[in-house]
Amino acid sequence: MACNIKSHTILKKAPYSDVKRKVDDLLKIMTLKEKIGQMNQYNGFWDVTGPVPSKGSEERKYEDIKAGLVGAMLSVRGAKEVRAVQRIAVEDTRLGIPLIIGFDVIHGYKTISPIPLAEAASWDLEAIKRSAQVAAAEAAAVGINWTFGPMVDISRDPRWGRVMEGAGEDPYLGCEIARARVEGFQGDDLSQTDTIAACAKHFAAYGFSESGKEYNTVDVGTVTLHNMILPPFKAAVEAGVKTFMNAFNDLNGVPATGHEFLLRDVLKGQWGFEGFVVSDWASIKEMVVWGHAENDRDAARLAATAGTDMDMESYAFVAELERLVLDGVVDEALIDDAVRRILTVKYELGLFDDPYRYCDEIREKAVVNCKAHHDAVLDMAKKSIVLLKNEDSILPLKKEGRKVALIGGLAADKNSVLGSWRIASDDHTGVSVLEGMKRYTGNTLVYEKGADVTLGEPRFIEELKINTTDKSGFKAAVATAKTADVVVMVLGEHGFQSGEARSRVDLGLPGVQQELLEAVYSVNTNIVLVLTNGRPLTIPWAAKHIPAIVETWQLGSQAGHAVAEVLYGDYNPSGKLPMTFPKDVGQIPIYYNHKRTGRPVNVAKNVFWSHYSDVDTLPLYPFGYGLSYTSFHYENLWMNKDEYTLGEPIHISIDVTNTGKVKGKEVVQLYIHDVFSSLIRPVKELKGFQLIAFESQETKTVRFTLEQDDLGFYDAEGNYSVELGDFKVYIGGDSTTNLYATFTLV
Ligand code: NOJ
Repeated sequence: MACNIKSHTILKKAPYSDVKRKVDDLLKIMTLKEKIGQMNQYNGFWDVTGPVPSKGSEERKYEDIKAGLVGAMLSVRGAKEVRAVQRIAVEDTRLGIPLIIGFDVIHGYKTISPIPLAEAASWDLEAIKRSAQVAAAEAAAVGINWTFGPMVDISRDPRWGRVMEGAGEDPYLGCEIARARVEGFQGDDLSQTDTIAACAKHFAAYGFSESGKEYNTVDVGTVTLHNMILPPFKAAVEAGVKTFMNAFNDLNGVPATGHEFLLRDVLKGQWGFEGFVVSDWASIKEMVVWGHAENDRDAARLAATAGTDMDMESYAFVAELERLVLDGVVDEALIDDAVRRILTVKYELGLFDDPYRYCDEIREKAVVNCKAHHDAVLDMAKKSIVLLKNEDSILPLKKEGRKVALIGGLAADKNSVLGSWRIASDDHTGVSVLEGMKRYTGNTLVYEKGADVTLGEPRFIEELKINTTDKSGFKAAVATAKTADVVVMVLGEHGFQSGEARSRVDLGLPGVQQELLEAVYSVNTNIVLVLTNGRPLTIPWAAKHIPAIVETWQLGSQAGHAVAEVLYGDYNPSGKLPMTFPKDVGQIPIYYNHKRTGRPVNVAKNVFWSHYSDVDTLPLYPFGYGLSYTSFHYENLWMNKDEYTLGEPIHISIDVTNTGKVKGKEVVQLYIHDVFSSLIRPVKELKGFQLIAFESQETKTVRFTLEQDDLGFYDAEGNYSVELGDFKVYIGGDSTTNLYATFTLV
């Protein structure tokens, strides 16, 4: 999906053995210091093109690059800037080994696509892959050749702000999306100038931070680890991901950065991962703060021994590893292994053939922000929207002769729609909902802010806490709503209220937005609530009273156009939730694939069953849920047999009909349930889905095949097995489907 630009040099892919030989040859002539240098990554310094500052850490970084003590940089961007820093490594060092340049290309570089959680709601793997291709093409045009993505952390806790960066709560969907993103970023030839190396992060279990609090401890059983947390990482390895990143958390008492079991036994051992592992920012040093390492020397020892190959901004490897090797504490073979991995990726990126291949200012101008990229992110944005409620078909809006009141600070906000984690994007460049709706000129559109979400631009944590209490805009908003035929209210989170270090305990509408909603509702109930947010919110009042609710997440550069097209029916939404929406924060963690309990239902009609006494056990909106402007009917769930022997493929089909008047797409979802097993299994597990387009009144027979490996699970030691016995197969439009057939594995 790059713009129509020819790659400036097409390299012939070097055969694997050739790269291996080159790496070995290089390794032979490297000093121990130079090897350790390759394992060191620094953050970008303020001016690589101009004079080097005389004091401070910038000077040190510059000197270290010159001395061959730096293998990678992060957050240097721009063809010219990267060229300048690359020149130091290539021309001023003894061996001229090029740097690898990393950057958080999380959902686009300059042209911003929907936040990853939103993209996951599309369940459209091709679109997600294309979105990663767009991001890669732009990043590769500004000197970057390595993204710190995809984040493949499964999470069940929307209090954790980083759920916006992932694919939600389900490991199956998580695996599919991990593959799509890795393939999108890396393509099939890493040396092309529109592909970049990907990084599966955060390894592992970061999404299970206790109480959803950022940088917190993780304590999970190994059954959950193997069945829920690790599969998307494994899928990324299978898709050929070149790098991994450690996580900030500990896992059952050991910081992930020094977790030998995770890194050496599982990742590099069982899974045979051949790429390299970078620490998270200063996470090697943080092992001292954790109280796991005695000092930096000890932290460097633990990280290198456990299998962390590159140190991001801890300065621990560069300061301590040489001594550790000379003292015989760390085996030089481990250093060689790490460096071999790093150099291999550099070769594969084509950096040794042309270290400046990602630094082409002409390409940069042509590719970044080009029209093709904006078209692609608009398409992705529309596909990411989830229709949560549409009573009396209030949507789509009529296009002519209506007075439409548009209310909410977020409606005119060109920044929040870009979401969090968009370092290179220009502020206030997203299309707002107001701008998108203005394109529909048949109605009279009146905008009233009503209220802001927060005070100012909350990039920093102090500002985040200050939700506005200003209600001075209520009066005008209510007056406008009173005389309108329909009210569109855009409410939710500011773009920086989710993301890293944005854990929250109140997941309702921030600030005075709930009050604004109720005030407007008191004069006009004909409301369409457009939610914009980076995580599931708790909105039980709105779900009960407001007739139409559209989940639009943070949709990126073209957000407003996507929202308007959906509101006016020019695009029929087909998104489905990748994460459960709770009714109340107290229900968290709440997720569809929970295990059974001994008292799942209220058989005895007394209080002694698994429930809360103040809120029911059901979610507000379940995983996999999403409506359309049409409706779908499922029938004739068919299986070719009712008994299968181990290894036999299981063929299943279902007839799905579009029973409405317009065409639409449906995500047909297949879940299984292992009825009896040695370890308690989830009530439902997603094992297949298909996104299918239907004409009005069209029926299609949708076919699935389950293989043996779809039916098993990992035990506490990580052994995978399939157990004989009864299974249920459910198919439907969301995870609450009750349409099922049973079969027996004999
Ligand atoms: C810390 C974050 O946890 C990680 O995801 C990111 O890639 C690094 N910082 C680098 O910015």
